[in-house]
Amino acid sequence: MKELVTYPRKKSSMKKNTISFPKAGLDKETLLQKMTERRANDTHWQTGKAFALVYHPGKERSEAIKAAYDMFFSENALNPTAFPSLRQFEAEVIAMTADLFHGDENTCGSLSSGGTESILLAVKTAREWGKKKMKIAHPEILIPETAHPAFYKAGYYFGVKVTKIPVREDFRVDMEAMKAAVSENTVLLVGSAPSYPHGVIDPISELSDLAVEKGLLLHVDACIGGFMTPFAKKLGWPIPDWDFSLPGVTSISADVHKYGYAAKGASTILYRNHELRKHQFYVITDWSGGIYGSPTMLGTRPGGAIAAAWAALMTIGEAGYLEMAARTLKATQMLQEGIAAHPELKIIGQPDVSLFAFGNSEEGKNIDIYALADELSKMGWSFDRNAVPISIHITVNQIHLEVVSDFLADLKTALDKVKKFRLSHVTSKVQIKAVKGLQKILPEGALAKIQSATAGKGGGGAPKAAMYGMMGALAGTGDLHTMVLNFLDKLNGLEKVEIKASESD
Ligand SMILES: Cc1ncc(COP(=O)(O)O)c(C=O)c1O
Repeated sequence: MKELVTYPRKKSSMKKNTISFPKAGLDKETLLQKMTERRANDTHWQTGKAFALVYHPGKERSEAIKAAYDMFFSENALNPTAFPSLRQFEAEVIAMTADLFHGDENTCGSLSSGGTESILLAVKTAREWGKKKMKIAHPEILIPETAHPAFYKAGYYFGVKVTKIPVREDFRVDMEAMKAAVSENTVLLVGSAPSYPHGVIDPISELSDLAVEKGLLLHVDACIGGFMTPFAKKLGWPIPDWDFSLPGVTSISADVHKYGYAAKGASTILYRNHELRKHQFYVITDWSGGIYGSPTMLGTRPGGAIAAAWAALMTIGEAGYLEMAARTLKATQMLQEGIAAHPELKIIGQPDVSLFAFGNSEEGKNIDIYALADELSKMGWSFDRNAVPISIHITVNQIHLEVVSDFLADLKTALDKVKKFRLSHVTSKVQIKAVKGLQKILPEGALAKIQSATAGKGGGGAPKAAMYGMMGALAGTGDLHTMVLNFLDKLNGLEKVEIKASESD
C-alpha cells in the first residue's frame, strides 16, 4: 500500500532538535537583556519607521493602554461569568463602536482577535444564515478583487465559494459586474471601507441598494478604516457613507488594534441584529465536559487585549481620535505631495484617507519600483509592496507627522540612486540575494520552470532575474503556491531565513 504519511522507522534515525528545552529558568534581568538584543534588527516603529503593522498613539497614551493590558494579563474571557469585568468591557467596546457606526439598539457584536477573525466570523455567519434561512446548500460570496485575503481564507476554511469581482479603473468594485454575478447561491456581498491595497472605499451605498433589492447580506470590511474614517469625516474630509446608516449593511468589521491604537488582538465584528449574530456562535450541548458555548473562533480569550481595547477607547476618546486623525491626515497629505513632486512617481488612484500606494508615472516608467523599495528598506523604512499595479504601500499614522521630511529626503536619495538603474537592472545585490534565498527553498525543478515562465516578461532568467518580476509572472500558479508554502514552513521554524534587504553582501 502507498504510504501517505512518513513515520520515522527507528528512534535512532530521528535527528535531534537543535534547541533543547531550557533547564534552569533565567532571571528577569538576563531574560530582558537577551530579548532586547534580539530586537536589534527589528523595525524601529517607535521612531516612525513603520508604514505598516504598528499604530503608535504616543508614549503617554500607550503607557495607559499597556497598564490596562497588564492589569488583565492573566484573565480569560472564555467564561465571562468568572470575569464580569471583561464581559462588561467587551459589551461596552461593541456598544461604543456601534454608536460610531450609526447602529441602533439592535446592533450587537463581538470582540475578536483581529481583522482576519472578524472576517472569518462574518463569512461563517453568512454561510449559516444562507443555509438556515435561504436553504442554500452551497453558499457563495461576492468580493471585490481588492478585498483582504481573509475572505479567501474564510472561503477555504468554511467551504464557501468566493467569487472575485473586478474593480474599475479607480480600484473601486465594478457594480455592473457585481450585479451580474449575483446567483441563486449568493448569500453575501462584500465591500471595503477602504481596501488595503489602494486605500479606496468601494461604492457601499450602491452595494447596500443591491443587497436590499436581492435580499442579501452585506459585509463592510472597515478593519483598517473603521477607527479613522468617522473621524476624518468629522474633520471635513469627503468620506462617503459606508456604515449602518445604509439599510443594506448587515455586518461590519473594524479593528481596534489598528487606528483604534489598542494592543494587538482586538477587532470588532458588528451585526445589524441579534438574530444574525446567533449564526456566528458555536454551541455543543452533549460534550462530556458539560454544555459549551463560544461566541467567536477562539476558546481561551485574552483578558489583556479586551481590557486594552476598552482602555484605548476610554483614554483616547473622540477628542483624542480627532486630534490623531488630523495629524495622520496632515502627514498623509504632505507625504503624497512630496512623493508626487517627483515627476517619475505618482499616487495610485485617489485614496480616500490615510493609506495609499505610489508607483511610477509615465515619465518614470523606467524606474524599478521594487528596487526603490529595496533602497528605502535599507534605510530602515518598513512598508508593503503592492503587486497590482507595482507600487509601494504606505499606511500613515499619527507618529508619521514627525518623520515626513526624513522620509521624503530618503526617498529622494533612493530615487536618485535607482534612476541610474534601468528597468532591466538585474544585478541588484538585494534581488540576487533574495533569489538565492528563494532558491534554497524551491522545490526541485521549480527554478527551471520559473526561468522559462519569466523569460520575456522582464524576468531575464533566474537567478539574475528580479525576484518580484518572477513573483509577478508566477502569481496565481501552482509553482508559486508551493514555493510560498515551503517558505512559510521555513519561516515558522528555527532555521534562519533571509528576509530583509541589506547592503552588507
Ligand atoms: C482592509 C483590511 N481587512 C482585513 C485586514 C486583516 O486584519 P488582521 O491583520 O488584523 O487580521 C486588514 C489588515 O491590514 C485590512 O487592511
